[in-house]
Amino acid sequence: MSHLDNIPSTPGKFKMEKSAYIHRVRWQSSITKLTFWSLIILGSILIFFYRSPSSSPLSSDPSRRSLSTYDWGGPSWEKRVRSSARVRSRNGISVLVTGAAGFVGTHVSVALKRRGDGVLGLDNFNNYYDQSLKRDRQALLERTGVFVVEGDINDSALLKKLFEVVPFTHVMHLAAQAGVRYAMENPSSYVHSNIAGLVSLLEVCKSANPQPAIVWASSSSVYGLNTKVPFSEQDRTDEPASLYAATKKGGEEIAHSYNHIYGLSLTGLRFFTVYGPWGRPDMAYFFFTRDILKGKSIPIFEAADHGTVARDFTYIDDIVKGCLASLDTAEKSTGSGGKKKGPAQLRVFNLGNTSPVPVSDLVSILEKLLKVKAKRNIMKLPRNGDVQFTHANISLAQRELGYKPTTDLPTGLKKFVRWYMNYYSQGKKADA
Ligand SMILES: NC(=O)c1ccc[n+]([C@@H]2O[C@H](COP(=O)([O-])OP(=O)(O)OC[C@H]3O[C@@H](n4cnc5c(N)ncnc54)[C@H](O)[C@@H]3O)[C@@H](O)[C@H]2O)c1
Ligand SMILES: *[C@@H]1O[C@H](CO)[C@@H](O)[C@H](O)[C@H]1NC(C)=O
Ligand SMILES: *[C@@H]1O[C@H](CO)[C@@H](O)[C@H](O)[C@H]1NC(C)=O
Repeated sequence: MSHLDNIPSTPGKFKMEKSAYIHRVRWQSSITKLTFWSLIILGSILIFFYRSPSSSPLSSDPSRRSLSTYDWGGPSWEKRVRSSARVRSRNGISVLVTGAAGFVGTHVSVALKRRGDGVLGLDNFNNYYDQSLKRDRQALLERTGVFVVEGDINDSALLKKLFEVVPFTHVMHLAAQAGVRYAMENPSSYVHSNIAGLVSLLEVCKSANPQPAIVWASSSSVYGLNTKVPFSEQDRTDEPASLYAATKKGGEEIAHSYNHIYGLSLTGLRFFTVYGPWGRPDMAYFFFTRDILKGKSIPIFEAADHGTVARDFTYIDDIVKGCLASLDTAEKSTGSGGKKKGPAQLRVFNLGNTSPVPVSDLVSILEKLLKVKAKRNIMKLPRNGDVQFTHANISLAQRELGYKPTTDLPTGLKKFVRWYMNYYSQGKKADA
C-alpha cells in the first residue's frame, strides 16, 4: 500500500501558466529560445493532460486546501472515471460518493461496488486526521474497483466535469468537516466543506440532466441542547451546541430550499456516533484504544453532579445498510434544466442504535478486549460542543427503510479492536 504514498508531487495547472508568462517576457528577443520554451511548455501541457491523477502537495495550512491544486482531467482520467462508475448489475445505480476516502465513505463505496452498482469516489484527502489512513482506505477501494478522484466538493468545475462524464443517478454525499472540538481551532473549514461545499454540490446537481437523487450525512448533533429522549426527527433542532452542529443544521435547511426550488430529491441521515474498523482516529473509541495500549491516561467526561455521559454508538455495518436502503428508496428528482417540474421527495432519518452506553462502559469493554487496565482521568464535560447524551428514536427509519441495527457495542468493538491490532501491527504508527 505504501507505494501510493510515494508518488512525487507535480505542479498544477495554475503554476504552469504563470511560469509560461514569465518565460515569454524574458526571452522574447530570441526566436530560437522562444521556440525552445514553446516546446517545453507544449510538452508540459501534454504531460498535464495525459498524466493519470496522483497526489498533489497539500499544505499543512488548512486554509490552503480551498485552492484547487488538484490534478484532474484528460482522456485516461476520464476513462478511469467512466469505468469506476459503470453499472454491472441489472437495475444497478451509479453513485458519486463524496468523502469516499473517509470512514463511512469507504464502507459505503465497497458495499455498493460489491452488489454491482457503479461507484465513483471523490475526496480531498485533507489533513484533519492521519492522511495515510485515508490513503490506505483508497488502496482498499482501488482493489475493489472504486476510483477516488482527488478534489474538493467546492470545486464546481470539477463537479460539472464529473457529471458530464457520468450521468450519475445518485449522489451519496459524505464529505464534510467532522468533529466537534476542532471547530474552535479551524472554524472556516466547517464553512468551506459543510456549507459552501454543500451548496456547490447541490448547484451542480440541480443543473445536471437528469438530476440525481441525493442522500447525505447530517448528524445527531443537530439535536444539540435538546433534553427530550429519545431524539425523534420532529423534535426541535434549533439549539446547536457546536459550530459543527450548526453547519449540519444549516445543511438541512439548505437541502430543504433546493428541494423546494429545484425539485431535488433529498434525504438527510442523522448518524449517531458511528464506529468500527477503518474508523476515525479523532473519535473517543479510537484514541482510547491507542492510549490504553500506550499506558497513557484517558479523559472520561462526566456531567454536573456526576451525571453520566452516554452515546448511542452505532456500528458501521448498520449505518451502511441504512445508507443503501436510503439510496434504494430515494425517489427520482423531478426537475430538469435547473427548473422544478413537480414536488420532490424530502426526508430526514435518524440512524442510531437506540441503545445508549455510558462512556465509562465503553472503556470497560475496551479494557477487556485489550487485556489492559485503563488509566481513567475523570473530568468535567467542557461546554465546547459535546452534549451529555444521545439516543435515537429509529422508528421512522425502521418503517421507511427497513432499518434495523443488529450489532451491539461489545460485538462491534471486538471487530474494531481486531482490525486495529492487525492494522497497526504492520509497523504503522498510531500517531498523536
Ligand atoms: N462518524 C460519525 O460518528 C458521524 C456522526 C455523525 C455524522 N457524521 C457525518 O458523516 C459523514 C462521514 O463521516 P466520517 O466519519 O466518515 O468522516 P471522515 O472525516 O472520515 O470522512 C469525510 C471525508 O471527506 C473528505 N472531505 C472533507 N472535506 C472535503 C471537501 N471539501 N472536499 C472533498 N472531500 C472532503 C475528508 O478527506 C474525509 O476523507 C460526514 O458528513 C460526517 O459529518 C459522521
Ligand atoms: C467555494 O467556491 C466558491 C465558488 O467557486 C467560491 O467563491 C468560494 O470562495 C468557495 N468557498 C470557500 C469557503 O472555499
Ligand atoms: C418515535 O418516533 C415516532 C415517529 O417517528 C413517534 O410516533 C414515537 O412516539 C416516538 N417514540 C418515542 C418513544 O418518543
